[in-house]
Amino acid sequence: MKQRILRSLRTAGLLNAAERANFLFVNRKQRRKNMLFGQANPGFVVPPEALAYDAYSWLDWENYRKSGTDTAALLSQIASRHLSENHPLRVLEWGCGPARVIRHISAAFGAKTEVYGSDYNEDTIKWCSKSIPGVNFTLNGLEPPLPFDSGIFDFVYSISVFTHLSESVSRAWIEELIRITHSGSILVVTMQGDAYLEKLLPDEVEVYRSRGIVLRGNVTEGSRIFSAFHSREYLTTKLFQNLEVLEFIPSPSLGQDIWVLRKP
Ligand SMILES: C[S@@+](CC[C@H](N)C(=O)[O-])C[C@H]1O[C@@H](n2cnc3c(N)ncnc32)[C@H](O)[C@@H]1O
Repeated sequence: MKQRILRSLRTAGLLNAAERANFLFVNRKQRRKNMLFGQANPGFVVPPEALAYDAYSWLDWENYRKSGTDTAALLSQIASRHLSENHPLRVLEWGCGPARVIRHISAAFGAKTEVYGSDYNEDTIKWCSKSIPGVNFTLNGLEPPLPFDSGIFDFVYSISVFTHLSESVSRAWIEELIRITHSGSILVVTMQGDAYLEKLLPDEVEVYRSRGIVLRGNVTEGSRIFSAFHSREYLTTKLFQNLEVLEFIPSPSLGQDIWVLRKP
């Protein structure tokens, strides 16, 4: 029922208006809890609510901090499984949003790690550059390139970014991430896969099974409400065809699948 209502709003061009109303509701609902978090953690800078809602659709600073530290720790474990620790790493988060994860990467990977973050949202990059020390932030466009030389990153990760892009733009970005990494570098990306079948409408399930990719658009590409779902077969045979799949970590219900890839 909810998905049908959302589709009607999307088709009518009203999804952005509904999102704005929901932002006011969520912000109000979370206000007290977030105020208590701020009082208990005066040194922990949090992003402006509108930027956080834009990226996450929720506004809970406790969760912002905990999910960020947990994800940074998970990424560090993945890196140590697949990379030698003999040299300091250069790490990039492409689509870093308001720094939920990247602000913890140095602590999780070690102080010698060089950390970079990029996003296509100018306000997000402005806030990150001003508020988060120790990370080199860069603005990029909806489409590549990134302002980096070829082959310079050892570890690139991207959480819930391909899930908001069209097919052609996703292909262009995979090629760009391949360009900025070297042979043996690790890429970690998350995707909305089979766990989301329960959320898809019957005609979308059909497309998912036949084409392997379902797009929900009629809104700005790259925004959270532009949604992309990919089957495993589509990813392994099309988007990741020039990469080696090292690990596939299926999501728990309605979390995203994690793909660990290596540039050959
Ligand atoms: C769902 S949020 C996730 C943010 C962050 N990765 C995290 O997990 O906390 C998606 C992010 O991707 C960014 N984004 C969307 N399209 C992009 C693109 N073409 N290049 C870079 N960033 C993009 C959005 O601005 C947003 O910050």
